[in-house]
Amino acid sequence: MKMLTKLTLLFAIFSFDYTATTLASDPDPVQDFCIPNPRFGPIRTPHLTILPCKNSSDVTTDDFVFSGVRTAGNFTETGLAAKPVNPATFPGLNTLGMSFVRADIKVGGINPPHFHPRATEIAYVVQGSVYSGFVDSGNRVFAKTIEQGEVMVFPRGLVHFQMNVGDKPATIFGSFNSQNPGTQKIPSALFGSEIKEDLLEKAFGLSPRQIGVMKRRFVPKSAR
Ligand SMILES: *[C@@H]1O[C@H](CO)[C@@H](O)[C@H](O)[C@H]1NC(C)=O
Ligand SMILES: *[C@@H]1O[C@H](CO)[C@@H](O)[C@H](O)[C@H]1NC(C)=O
Repeated sequence: MKMLTKLTLLFAIFSFDYTATTLASDPDPVQDFCIPNPRFGPIRTPHLTILPCKNSSDVTTDDFVFSGVRTAGNFTETGLAAKPVNPATFPGLNTLGMSFVRADIKVGGINPPHFHPRATEIAYVVQGSVYSGFVDSGNRVFAKTIEQGEVMVFPRGLVHFQMNVGDKPATIFGSFNSQNPGTQKIPSALFGSEIKEDLLEKAFGLSPRQIGVMKRRFVPKSAR
């Protein structure tokens, strides 16, 4: 009986600790590194996706180097080219609790309002002049134009945005304190998803026609 109580207590502490750590941030690594082994698929649990590691004797320096951010990505209609650097593109980051993005913005282009549910971002302007900001949970906006060499921090989970207000292309490097920050773009989350049109009409005070215009703009072309 005593043993059972102890076990129950131990289990309770364990589950509490597990929940607390998974909610607070990425889990701490338990090895120096874990380069995913392409021969094995991911193991999915309700809380985590685990990628089995390569045998460390098969790991090379090149596993820790990523050259994909030397050039810009492909530009979207809003003039943004984002190149994410996370374990999906750069396997060396796996289990290390951080990731990165290169974002290029054309003159007048924007990075539409979006947020990262699992990470704070610090964005460094490599070149250009970028109107940057975020909105707190009381709808207060903190925004200004930041110049080459300056950084701005976007607190975890808060909506933020950027616009190139200079006269040449802008390049920004953003770092995240999660290897999988996640991105939800506000316009497409609302108008490019399957939310009932009735609800959107009431939420935004728009007519069915106006909602149709928004949906045509944001529903991914492949889904039409
Ligand atoms: C890793 O590779 C080394 C050297 O090839 C080998 O001795 C070892 O058994 C391997 N470990 C595992 C877990 O496969
Ligand atoms: C850019 O588009 C080309 C052609 O569609 C594609 O092959 C390439 O993978 C894309 N690059 C990125 C970084 O998404």
